[in-house]
Amino acid sequence: MRTILAIESTCDETAAAIVKRDGGGVEVLSNVVASSSEIHEKYGGVVPEVAAREQVLSIIPVVMEAMKKAEVEIEDLEGIAVAYGPGLIGSLLIGVETAKTLAYAWGKPLMAVNHMEAHVLANWIIEEGKNQIPELPALGLVVSGGHTDLILLRSMSEWEWLGGTRDDAAGECFDKCARILGLPYPGGPNIEREGEKATDEKIVVERLPRPMLDQDNLELSFSGLKSALASMAGKGVEKRLIPYLAREVNEAVAEVLVAKTMKAVGVYHPKSVLLAGGVAANKLLGSELEKKCEELGIKFFKPDTKYCTDNAVMIGAAALLRPNEVEVLELRPEPGLETVLT
Ligand code: KG4
Ligand code: ZN
Repeated sequence: MRTILAIESTCDETAAAIVKRDGGGVEVLSNVVASSSEIHEKYGGVVPEVAAREQVLSIIPVVMEAMKKAEVEIEDLEGIAVAYGPGLIGSLLIGVETAKTLAYAWGKPLMAVNHMEAHVLANWIIEEGKNQIPELPALGLVVSGGHTDLILLRSMSEWEWLGGTRDDAAGECFDKCARILGLPYPGGPNIEREGEKATDEKIVVERLPRPMLDQDNLELSFSGLKSALASMAGKGVEKRLIPYLAREVNEAVAEVLVAKTMKAVGVYHPKSVLLAGGVAANKLLGSELEKKCEELGIKFFKPDTKYCTDNAVMIGAAALLRPNEVEVLELRPEPGLETVLT
């Protein structure tokens, strides 16, 4: 299978893409994303009902735009891929039912994709200026709003879950900390931007905990960090200190993620390290991991920011690289789908 239409609708993005297999990698023919993120901003987080309603409005125009931009016709498509979980049930239903309907009407094979697996495989997207694809075995750090997982990719077909968070996901921690500091949703990019304003070296804020940093395992935890910030802020945060607290949150999260990833590298000796998921867009996390990998002579990969946050190109990449064809009438959304990828 070479050229396919891919659909993503797990949360507050409605996305469609046309992708094509190119050697060991995946070529992007078009990439369209409609987001309802601005609507959720005023609530400080995604409102599932609102996200699902927006998906209904956007899905058909988004699919049509992806086909138009790629200049492909129905007969050029060799399959349709869709993310069937994990995610919000209302949102998932829109993408899954659309993909099933199109596959049935157009007589195309339907491929079911695990959204978290797709985040990892975004590292195989061919981009301008990037001419390498990851060498296996690889160690993946998947960090998003709902997940924080370390995964070993022994081969394309054999994946093993190594460890992850006991409580909040890294992105969730950013989002909750942003809320405590009065910064808008989504928290990650806003904490990052606010932290860049912390330029006065004379201003020092209390240090936040680095949960489980010293424990000799691949487990993580972020809820204590959020609680520590909440109790600090409970005493009242001066406006001028917000950038310094934001920087401290960013540094604490990045430090723990880097340390645990490098611990896994020390145990499993991968040839590549792959960063993936929305939090992979974080500059400090990316640059620190890249530095550590360089020191050890390990190749470091991170998708372009537009492929770190939710998009359909990664769904297409997963369908091409790890095909999972399903019966059109039998596919159902699985909101709580496990990340354990094997
Ligand atoms: O993968 P994603 O788009 O959606 C999920 O599958 O969850 O990830 C969204 C998460 C949000 O928690 C958001 O705050 C975080 O990714 N995020 C970031 C950055 N950009 C997005 N976190 C830290 N730094 C960023 N630059
Ligand atoms: Zn995601």
